[in-house]
Amino acid sequence: MKDEHREGLLDEKRLFYPPVGFSTKAVVQDPKIYDLGKESKEFWGEQGKRLDWFEQWDEILEWNHPFARWYAGGKLNAAYNCLDRHLNGARRNKAALIFEGEMGDRRVLTYQDLHREVSQFANVLKSYGVEKGDRVTIYLPMIPEAVIAMLACARIGAPHTVVFGGFSYEALRDRIQDSGAKIVITADGSYRRGKILSLKENVDLALKVKTSVEKVIVVQRTGLSANMEKERDVWYHEAIKEAPIVCAAEPMDSDDMLFILYTSGTTGKPKGIVHSVGGYMVGVATTHQWVFDLREEDVYWCTADIGWITGHSYLVYGPLANGATILMYEGAPDYPEKDRYWKIVEKYKVTILYTAPTAIRTFMKWGASYPLSRDLSSLRLLGSVGEPINPEAWMWYYKNIGGERCPIVDTWWQTETGMILMTPVPGITPLKPGSCTVPFPGVQIEIVNHLGEPVPKGEGGYLVVREPWPSMLKTVYGDDKRYADTYWGQFKGVYFTGDEAKWDDDGYFWIIGRADDVINVSGHRIGTAEVEGALVDHPAVAEAACVGRTHEVKGQAVFAFVSLKEGITIHDGLISELKAHVVVKIGSLARPDDIFLTAELPKTRSGKIMRRLLKDIAEGRTMGDTSTLADASVINFLKENVKPKK
Ligand code: PRX
Repeated sequence: MKDEHREGLLDEKRLFYPPVGFSTKAVVQDPKIYDLGKESKEFWGEQGKRLDWFEQWDEILEWNHPFARWYAGGKLNAAYNCLDRHLNGARRNKAALIFEGEMGDRRVLTYQDLHREVSQFANVLKSYGVEKGDRVTIYLPMIPEAVIAMLACARIGAPHTVVFGGFSYEALRDRIQDSGAKIVITADGSYRRGKILSLKENVDLALKVKTSVEKVIVVQRTGLSANMEKERDVWYHEAIKEAPIVCAAEPMDSDDMLFILYTSGTTGKPKGIVHSVGGYMVGVATTHQWVFDLREEDVYWCTADIGWITGHSYLVYGPLANGATILMYEGAPDYPEKDRYWKIVEKYKVTILYTAPTAIRTFMKWGASYPLSRDLSSLRLLGSVGEPINPEAWMWYYKNIGGERCPIVDTWWQTETGMILMTPVPGITPLKPGSCTVPFPGVQIEIVNHLGEPVPKGEGGYLVVREPWPSMLKTVYGDDKRYADTYWGQFKGVYFTGDEAKWDDDGYFWIIGRADDVINVSGHRIGTAEVEGALVDHPAVAEAACVGRTHEVKGQAVFAFVSLKEGITIHDGLISELKAHVVVKIGSLARPDDIFLTAELPKTRSGKIMRRLLKDIAEGRTMGDTSTLADASVINFLKENVKPKK
């Protein structure tokens, strides 16, 4: 879906050079790194050395198009790389994780603490029969146990599948069923703006049907009473109490599965994106160190939830592999007050902040007085991820949060890419507001036309990756064909990202938005087909078509066109009922902002819904080609009756 406000971006001429004091101390200071990156395989072979391997790999890359085996023959463990290897030196007593709860409660775990808790919990999982290869679902709030659970799974070689706590029980059930999970780890509840949401209740509802789940482990976070089913449910704190603290890290093949993470696609149910241990860990550790210019004394804060890939790669695996101090927060940016983020930065002297454009636009709306009333002088680098950042928001972030001294890394990547693929390397790459700049060293990206031919500078087209990269997805869980068709079947020999982009005369990339039927709401991917499926599931609905409408804060919002079944009478609460139905089926992140009831949807003569025209209607812009419409009166009706956005 094209994002209107991205048009005309190539006119942006402002360039920001890294501050001198920043460049001379940066982790990467030599632009030659880009030349080295041209030989991707050798480059990534070199980077592979940054991890601890139990057995050295035989080959950097075994490429059997479109299936890659990175560091083939090598053996390692992700949790070992995140914990054990930091225990011999000065990092042993360094804070690995600082937790700031919604109630203002605070927990600090050193590397040694985290290692102990992870080992203990890994033993708990083993005692419930979890073996290498068994899948474990994690449905937890943003509390330290979420990180502990992920690393405990990694330690014993059980792929985790983290499900965002905001997903409904039906969405959770789909993911449990697709992955065939043996264990679910959850909490009694989670805090959100002073309220308690019951996660355990959702798990109970999800498990009402027969599934492969044998045990549910429940973290006590809120004290909310939970229905504990005998035999099946156990409390985390009771299970871990007697667990031994020694648990050897399982040597994993580089190519073994580390985790599955579900994401939306164009059609059907969400896809289980599979990431493997070796390549993923090399990719996230390298990018995390270079993109965030990580230094030993940094306090690094990534605001993403662990339910998303950003939480996996840049809250947990990348930073911990690099021995960083990570900050993790629970709750919302505006609770108890709208200065929550800035209070946290001030309190912990955060040096690196990684957040999303939607958050930045929200802060803009609230006004600069909130950040300006706090001491943000500890910050030295800012990051952005998840959706295009408009130059206005970039400049606001740069001035009001970064005090015009912090470079901004606008990082482009995807659940599937596992690691950042386009970004500035902050000590060497000049910045342009609104551009994710250039590919990371060792990554070969191009823009092609519909025939797959590279377009010249100054033009736009489809964004593709020409060479395999280490953190690339291994496959779609249980569906190699879908993997091959979706990503490698669109343009011959290259990976198709699903995005449209332009590049300018300096070779800088500007993301336009998704080229497919995926909407990006507040940096979260939502498939139109999923929302349509949820609407059609409601007994009153005959047909539904959803598009993304440009939204000032969220980037895009869901706009649904719905036709009702014969004989259904429209009543006052119907629209709210339909919205609530989507929340039950998927979660509140997919709730349509607008639902417009129409007798008919615009279709081609062969009966295909013309979403392109619906998008024009939703955006209130001039209509594209209507010549293939079966009945022009449908679109005329919509044109006259859909209110333009405010
Ligand atoms: O359209 C791009 C957009 O988000 C999509 C990937 O979404 P997801 O898999 O949920 O991962 C989000 C976090 C990595 C991409 O196809 N996107 C992500 N980062 C950017 C972006 N669009 C523009 N600029 C970015 N920095």
